[in-house]
Amino acid sequence: MSQGLKRIHHVEFVVGNAKQASYFYRQGFGFDQVGYRGPETGFPDQVSYLLEQNNIWLILTTPLRHDDPLNTWLMLHGDGVRDIAFEVENLDEVYSKAVSNGARSFREPTVDSDKRGSIRTAAIHTYGETLHTFIQRDGYEGMLPGFEPAEIKGRGTGLQFIDHVVGNVADRQMDKWVDWYDRTLGLSKFVSYDDNDISTEYTALRSTVVASADRAIKFPINEPAAGKKKSQIQEYIDSNLTAGVQHLAFNTSNILDTIKALRANGVDFLPVPEGYYDNVWERVGVVEEDKGRVKDLRILVDRDDSGYLLQLFTRPLQDRPTFFIEIIQRSGSDSFGKGNFKALFETIEQEQTLRGNL
Ligand code: FE2
Repeated sequence: MSQGLKRIHHVEFVVGNAKQASYFYRQGFGFDQVGYRGPETGFPDQVSYLLEQNNIWLILTTPLRHDDPLNTWLMLHGDGVRDIAFEVENLDEVYSKAVSNGARSFREPTVDSDKRGSIRTAAIHTYGETLHTFIQRDGYEGMLPGFEPAEIKGRGTGLQFIDHVVGNVADRQMDKWVDWYDRTLGLSKFVSYDDNDISTEYTALRSTVVASADRAIKFPINEPAAGKKKSQIQEYIDSNLTAGVQHLAFNTSNILDTIKALRANGVDFLPVPEGYYDNVWERVGVVEEDKGRVKDLRILVDRDDSGYLLQLFTRPLQDRPTFFIEIIQRSGSDSFGKGNFKALFETIEQEQTLRGNL
C-alpha cells in the first residue's frame, strides 16, 4: 500500500515572474488560470497563480520580498519545481510515518484556513531542495486557502493528468533515494534501467522507477553514469547546483491532436533524429494511430511486452538546461520509452555540445 497517498494534488514551481510564467503555460500548453493568491487576498509576501487542465494543477509562485528565502532558491536553481504535493487520507499518519522513517520535516502538521473552511498540511524535504507537501482537504470546497477565483481560459490541448515526475540525483545517490521513497512514503521499486539500457557511445545514465501500488504515482529517479563524456544528468546537476525535478510527463489520450496544438502554440520540442522513422515501425509493429501523422508531427514511439506508447519531449523550458516537459500517450504500455533513449540522447548530446557542456 502507498500509506495513504491518494494522488498528486499539485506541482508548485518557484519562478522569477509568475505573471509571465502563467501566460506561458496558458498560451503554450493550454492551461486555464483558475486562481490567484497574493497581497490582494491576504498574502503580502508572495504571488501564486493556480493553473488547471483536466486533472492537472500547477502552481506558479514568485516571492515579492527581497529577503524571502525563495529568492535564494531562485538564485541557486533558477525557475523550477519546488514542491510535488500529495493529497492524503490521513495527514498525521502519513507525516509521522515519513518522519519516523527518516524523512526530514519541513513543516509540521498545520491548519490553513480562509472564509471557505480549512485544510491541514505538512511537508517534508526530498532530494535537493525539493519538498513533498501532504494535504488533507477535509471537504474544503475552494482551491486552496488564500486562492481567489481569477479565471482566464486557455485553449486546452488535451493534457489529462500527470503521468510521472522524474528526479535527477547525483552520482551513486539513486539507490539511496529509491530506498528512501520505499521507507518514507511506501513507493516501491517498479522498474530499473541500467547504463547498458540508457547509453550512447558517449554518455550514460541509470534510472529506477518507484511507484504506488496502483501505479497512479510514478517517480523515475535518474543518476549520471560514467561515459566518455558528461551525462545529461550531470549537466542538470551542475546547472541546478543540486538534485531536482528533471521533467513532468503529462498524459494525453490523443497525442496527435495534442502535439499538433502544442506545435501550433510554439512549444519547442527536441528534434527527432533523421532516420528515426526508417526502422521504427519494424521495432514497434502495429499501432492504431496514422503512421504518416506520427511521422509528420515527429512523435516518438516505443513498445514493450504489454503494449506501446507515444511520447515527445520539450527542450528545457528556461535558459538553464534543467526542467522540461514530456507528453505521453499510453496504449497498454506501462514503461517509459526505453527504445527511444538512444535516439533521444544522441539529440541531447548535440545540444549539450552547442552549450559547451559535453
Ligand atoms: Fe519521462
